[in-house]
Amino acid sequence: MNTFLEGNFAPWRMEGVADDLQVVGEIPRDLNGTYYRTGPNPAFEPARNYHWFDGDGMIHAITLGGGRAHYRNRYVRSRGLEEERAAGRALYPSLLDLDATEVPAIKNTGNTNIVKHAGRLLALMEAALPTRMDCVTLDTLGEFDFDGKLVGAMTAHPKLDPETGELLFFGYSPVPPYLQYHVADRDGRLVRSEVIDVAWPSMIHDFAVTREHVVFILCPLVFSFENVRERGGVFSWEPERGTRLGVMPRTGGNADVRWSETDACYVFHPMNAYEDGDAVVVDVARYGRLDFMTVQAVENPNYRDQNAARMHRWRIDGRTGTVRSTPLDDVVVEFPRVDERLVGRRHRFGYTVAREPGVEDAKRPEWTAIRKYDLERGTTETRRLGPGNGVGEPLFVPRREGAAEDDGWVVFLAYDAARNASDFYVLDARDIAGEPVARVVLPHRVPYGFHGNWAAAS
Ligand SMILES: [Fe+2]
Repeated sequence: MNTFLEGNFAPWRMEGVADDLQVVGEIPRDLNGTYYRTGPNPAFEPARNYHWFDGDGMIHAITLGGGRAHYRNRYVRSRGLEEERAAGRALYPSLLDLDATEVPAIKNTGNTNIVKHAGRLLALMEAALPTRMDCVTLDTLGEFDFDGKLVGAMTAHPKLDPETGELLFFGYSPVPPYLQYHVADRDGRLVRSEVIDVAWPSMIHDFAVTREHVVFILCPLVFSFENVRERGGVFSWEPERGTRLGVMPRTGGNADVRWSETDACYVFHPMNAYEDGDAVVVDVARYGRLDFMTVQAVENPNYRDQNAARMHRWRIDGRTGTVRSTPLDDVVVEFPRVDERLVGRRHRFGYTVAREPGVEDAKRPEWTAIRKYDLERGTTETRRLGPGNGVGEPLFVPRREGAAEDDGWVVFLAYDAARNASDFYVLDARDIAGEPVARVVLPHRVPYGFHGNWAAAS
């Protein structure tokens, strides 16, 4: 059996609405808005191999207002999913089964992130265009290409500049151009697209921005269409290449990118980045190697040791270009987030999911704790949910406009294995280990997914 089709990784295939959910504790009156989260949820049994990254996107929306909580979930009705519904079976290959001839046959699942910008709610997956969703009904409105201006894919991790309102993003491709950088203005108009030269084609999941710079992260996970069957996928881990960090002034372009080298690693997610004098500081969840993108790794999983992420700080010297890589913690984490008002600015606090040491067999990418970092004091605080009770990405929501950096709530989804059910937690960000402010009892379990964001009620 495939790890990613078992337990709370298994899909939930019903769509529905549930109003006035049971709440343990009290939903703060100032907390009004909707938490959107997407994740993989295969509508049909996979034809052959299956990886967690493959499944059809399903959006889960938890709306809070007036102390009450409501839930809605809908599939991202991609063109590919509609074809499969017509056929009554899976038609698209797993990323594990891709070869050169099948590259165009990628389903735009929208399963990775969901962001709101310029009034548009966009479900994202990094190999394709965004998919626009209705903010209330979660109806799929279709692919969105910025009025024909976006040519190529869009990362699932665009960065919203908290001061300018711009959306900064990129797209990568296994065929040239391997990397493009884009900027949409605060009204959602694509105002800039530029090809960025990179040394090799790679899966570039995320990047970092500061007030003045963009940081591209090129890891030695190389697209290769030779010997795909033997290798168990299109990715080749080639650590001898090292990892390269490309720092580009936001006012500059491809010719101004300065590449620095650091030790071989893989980074799905930076927590945040900022300028510190001449240096650029990037905090990342860093894997020593990446070995879970192959058929063999799915059949014989092991998400421990170097094949698991820990927080590191990269300090890129602006004069010499050297990179100092400092471990910040020895606990396995993922899904790092900061206060969105500080994207690109110096942050003190950050939040991640964490693995409780010794609790799990590391056969699944599962995390059972929420960890808060105080990077100024060098301390951490952990909320443990217990063995088998996996948690999703934590998200900080400020108490009000102008509130201090950790004055607000940390919200996330958690699975309760004993009840085979899921809850939506609201924690006090200043007391994440304390009694939850509220626990919203959801009408059914929500499969483990990827990223979510909060949209305050307008
Ligand atoms: Fe991600």
